Amino acid sequence: MTLPTAQMLHPDASGIGQAAQLLTKGGLVAFPTETVYGLGVRADDDEAVARLYAAKGRPSFNPLIVHVPDLEAARRLVAFEDAAERLAAAFWPGALTLVLPLRDGAGVSPLVTAGLPSLAVRVPDHGLAAQLLRAVGLPIAAPSANPSGQVSPTRAAHVADGLGDSIAAILDGGDCAVGLESTIVGFSGGQPALLRPGGLPVEAIEACLGQPLLRPQDGPLPNAPGQLASHYAPKGTVRLNAVEIDAGETLLGFGPVAATVNLSESGDLVEAAAGLFAALHRLNALGADRIAVSPIPETGLGRAINDRLRRAAAPR
Ligand code: TXA
Ligand code: MG
Repeated sequence: MTLPTAQMLHPDASGIGQAAQLLTKGGLVAFPTETVYGLGVRADDDEAVARLYAAKGRPSFNPLIVHVPDLEAARRLVAFEDAAERLAAAFWPGALTLVLPLRDGAGVSPLVTAGLPSLAVRVPDHGLAAQLLRAVGLPIAAPSANPSGQVSPTRAAHVADGLGDSIAAILDGGDCAVGLESTIVGFSGGQPALLRPGGLPVEAIEACLGQPLLRPQDGPLPNAPGQLASHYAPKGTVRLNAVEIDAGETLLGFGPVAATVNLSESGDLVEAAAGLFAALHRLNALGADRIAVSPIPETGLGRAINDRLRRAAAPR
């Protein structure tokens, strides 16, 4: 076993300062956001971004989300249209990523966009992330801080387990409040489209826009390219909608059921979302090799929870 080499940084002025310095020098630094921990790198440095892809073992066709401290910083990178303006005003900072046309001269490495003419941007709703982004003063590309295809991290120890020997530092901000990656909305042909369900419920976005989002089932969409069928995979196999468990299975419960790990005994989708990835990490630690999952309703955050679980259950 390789010993972790990443420096664990405290959530204080000195930790933020060190994290900012490492990022400025092109280092890979994991930091907390309200959704999941991101693995940050300066978005203008080809070589540093290439090292990030290598550290994650990420297919290079899969573009990255750029993180900025506020809307003004986002405007320097992408062109906003009306619907995007409304969503940013309503939900930033927050668990919403907007995919918009990249501006000429934005200075973002083509490795970040994987050569696409669009860029995914978001303003995270997390005090430490905001302070770090302001301290660095550069757009920071940050995928979830996990090896490609594995479970996303919602606490510093998850990052250390997965990537501790291949990154410079981890800014420890405790547990992520939302626990699911951001919802991604793109605008193709002027129509807002859901590219990935996530921590901001689709219902809230549609209420703000006063119109439904296009969905992948509405026709061929430039779906978020990172939406690989098998993703978020724990070590064990995953069986969904389990109303009873078979011999040898470990139950990941939802609602009032006797389970080894329960996402929410009271059936609260917000609680379930916040604890989903920690639950999968816990099942890995327990050595669960066949995981059965209770049915979870397909409403609000349940859509994003089920999306992640379907990918966790997909053939690998
Ligand atoms: O909550 C989050 O979004 C977290 C935190 C760290 O901010 N980040 C995250 O990044 O989930 P990642 O790399 O694991 O997922 C990024 C997703 C991928 O599915 C990718 O394909 C999509 O965003 N994406 C990025 N740029 C895109 C673009 N230009 N067009 C369409 N999809 C894009
Ligand atoms: Mg990810």
